[in-house]
Amino acid sequence: MARITAETANGTVSFDAAEGRKLVLTIEDEGIDILHRCGGNARCTTCRVEILEGDPGPIGEPEKVILATKTDLNDHTRLSCQVRIMDDLHLKVINQASVNGIDPGTRPEE
Ligand code: FES
Repeated sequence: MARITAETANGTVSFDAAEGRKLVLTIEDEGIDILHRCGGNARCTTCRVEILEGDPGPIGEPEKVILATKTDLNDHTRLSCQVRIMDDLHLKVINQASVNGIDPGTRPEE
């Protein structure tokens, strides 16, 4: 188990999460309406989070390529649909459906 602390538009939430699971799904399962507009395919970047503490693991090529197209992101930005939990994480959720006023998108596969 890993401990996730997520800063959201509605305050800070802490919860346990199974190692190896996709970060975006654990966040959503805690009732946080994180966006994932492309369904977890490393295309939209709406699922991005800012990692404040902890090791989100290695970054894959598809994630690296799409993040490189964005100029307004800091070095600690990761796509939560591409992160498999392996460590305690403190993070900030960037996009939420209730804040952006749009549907979260298709739920990514496990
Ligand atoms: S990049 Fe689209 S859901 Fe993660």
